[in-house]
Amino acid sequence: MATTANLGLEGVVAFETEIAEPDREGSALRYRGIDIEELGGKVPFEQVWGLVVNESLSRGLQLPGPECEPVSRTGDARIDLQATLPTLASRWSLRQLVDIDADQARDDLARLSSATISIVAQALRGEKPPVPQVEVERGRTAAEQFLIRWHGELDERQAKALDVYWVSAAEHGMNASTFTARIAASTGADCAACLASAVGSLSGPLHGGAPARVLPMLDAVAELGDADRYVSDMLARGERIMGFGHRVYRAEDPRSRVLKRTAIDLGSPRVEAAEALERAAIAALKDKYPDRPLETNVEFWGAIVLELAEIPAAVTPALFACARTAGWSAHIVEQKSTGRLIRPSARYVGPAERRLADLR
Ligand code: COA
Repeated sequence: MATTANLGLEGVVAFETEIAEPDREGSALRYRGIDIEELGGKVPFEQVWGLVVNESLSRGLQLPGPECEPVSRTGDARIDLQATLPTLASRWSLRQLVDIDADQARDDLARLSSATISIVAQALRGEKPPVPQVEVERGRTAAEQFLIRWHGELDERQAKALDVYWVSAAEHGMNASTFTARIAASTGADCAACLASAVGSLSGPLHGGAPARVLPMLDAVAELGDADRYVSDMLARGERIMGFGHRVYRAEDPRSRVLKRTAIDLGSPRVEAAEALERAAIAALKDKYPDRPLETNVEFWGAIVLELAEIPAAVTPALFACARTAGWSAHIVEQKSTGRLIRPSARYVGPAERRLADLR
């Protein structure tokens, strides 16, 4: 009997991982066993990178990151990052994963992750002259250095907001971009190619791009003055409410909790309106899908925290990529240790055998 395809691969266990544990029912997320509640706002991203990749806060990202000019200037930092990363393999003579040991892979990935942060900052700076490295070094954390490299100056509240966002988005088990990174790693590609593949999986709004759509929703609600009507109109048009629902969590996304607390602590002026939209969305989704819990996900409060850091919504996929270098890197190393090529099957359901002459 022919097997049926599982189109979203939901529930398919393809890997064993020691990296992150999203607790589906318990609304918690742990990196190497440590709850993100203990990390967000308390441990800076560069150390959390070390926890996720090397299980050690002290073996994180080196500061400052390298000066790294993007190879293209398209006006979209995510695209510039995706174009630049693979070129670092030849510029830095990185060898392919199959030809190096796990320690070398970790070093390559740390270097590339730091470069990612520099490339994105530099791409966002656009045509303005680069900020001298000595200025960048005034920043005490990766987030502070990123903001100096981008703007030439530092606002500590913005850096705090960005740091918590990066920590919350550092890793999340098997998602589209991480799966992509593992697929590339399974072919033995170099680490830069693996990361670039993952970045390519972030261009759609269903993964990593939703924050770009959250703030326009909040603006629209403010204009309409009625959150309930706004969400019911959206659902009636068959649209998805951005920042709600998750493949894994059947309760609130724990990252949303950490980010909401940060938005409140740092005094976001959006909190009241966002809470109104959140209440309306959860109620309307519950009404429409009583059997499918659809709660707030990381992208909703993530958008509000990123706004505090004055990050334009369109830039969020590139920012998400900076954060997720941690998870991607850890999974690339883990995939390498399996030594298995990822090669699933497809059931052919196309036309039966025919002659070229039959094709019109
Ligand atoms: N708004 C409206 N309807 C939603 C929804 C949302 N945010 N999320 C899910 N649904 C609906 C689906 O359309 C589906 O309805 P249908 O059966 O009538 O087609 C139903 O709920 C079940 O959803 P499901 O297909 O099981 O969700 P999923 O696991 O495939 O999708 C997401 C998960 C995240 C892709 C989805 O919830 C979504 O698109 N959310 C909005 C985008 C977003 O916030 N992305 C960031 C994720 S971190």
